[in-house]
Amino acid sequence: MKLKNIRKAKSVSIILSILAIAFLFVSCKKTDTSKDDKDLLLGFSQVGSESAWRIGNTNDIKEKADEYNIGLMLENANQKQENQIAAIRRFIAYKVDVIAFSPIVEEGWENVLTEAKEAGIPVILVDRDISSDQSDLTACKIGADFYKEGRKAGEYLIRKADDLKMEDVNIVEIAGTEDSTPMRQRRAGFKAAIANDKRMHILKSVDGDFLKSRGAECMRTLLEEYGDKIDVVYSHNDEMTLGAIPEIEKAGYTPGEDIIIISIDGGQEAIDVLKSGKINCIVECTPKLGKEVMETVIKLKNGEEVEKVIHPEEEVFSDEQDLSDIAPRGY
Ligand code: AHR
Repeated sequence: MKLKNIRKAKSVSIILSILAIAFLFVSCKKTDTSKDDKDLLLGFSQVGSESAWRIGNTNDIKEKADEYNIGLMLENANQKQENQIAAIRRFIAYKVDVIAFSPIVEEGWENVLTEAKEAGIPVILVDRDISSDQSDLTACKIGADFYKEGRKAGEYLIRKADDLKMEDVNIVEIAGTEDSTPMRQRRAGFKAAIANDKRMHILKSVDGDFLKSRGAECMRTLLEEYGDKIDVVYSHNDEMTLGAIPEIEKAGYTPGEDIIIISIDGGQEAIDVLKSGKINCIVECTPKLGKEVMETVIKLKNGEEVEKVIHPEEEVFSDEQDLSDIAPRGY
């Protein structure tokens, strides 16, 4: 081939390569921006990834957004309120259709939610509540009845104490994140349930922040302080319970026998431990809120009325029942 023809062939192949790369770029970009094809955009600010429950909740929100063909801007606040506030401000700037968020604590939301209201963007509270005198800042709340969960835990304990013919019941409580709705309501519901039972004494309540590592730390300290006196551990979530159990064993006690263990959530790992006998009771708190959230998003976008409070149905799993037929939990 002559030099001139070689140069020509080279330029043709360069042009073809550029065209191929351009084609690839365009087709990839189309997939990335597929949210643009959706009519509805939801901004969701998640608390963090502190527990199996939380991860299950995030996954469910993602799956259901997909199923309902709703575009999702998802932000993880990594356990910081300021990150949630910044995320909500970004959703407002982006002009999403609806904002949803799980407030890490109850106080401190008025300013940012007033901004959302002024921008005409409805807000759904998912999982947790806020505490405010202004009831028009949010459209509705979708999440568990935490007070009822606390009551169920207390009612189980009364039945168990009757069963074991206990005369005195010394309880330690490992509570969730200070000032969060589940921490406040699970404590209040439990206290109310045991209030008229003279056998029940809460020795101490400590803050375990819903984390496994904190559950372990709290349990170590409680064992050092109260040792033999502890009859019951009431823990506000599975993660902290799973952190506490090995500490109880290391201290020479048998969880589920020497110490009654009551937990909340019902993730697969904890259900397996319940089946092994090291947990006595788990009050269910379901993270599967995505369906209700997406259906509410669509109603709000269409200007329809929505229910102010939606609580999912929840069960109790305990050593009082046959545990062999609990369906896989999926989180
Ligand atoms: O708000 C729900 C609670 O938060 C769950 O019980 C807990 O596991 C989570 O981190």
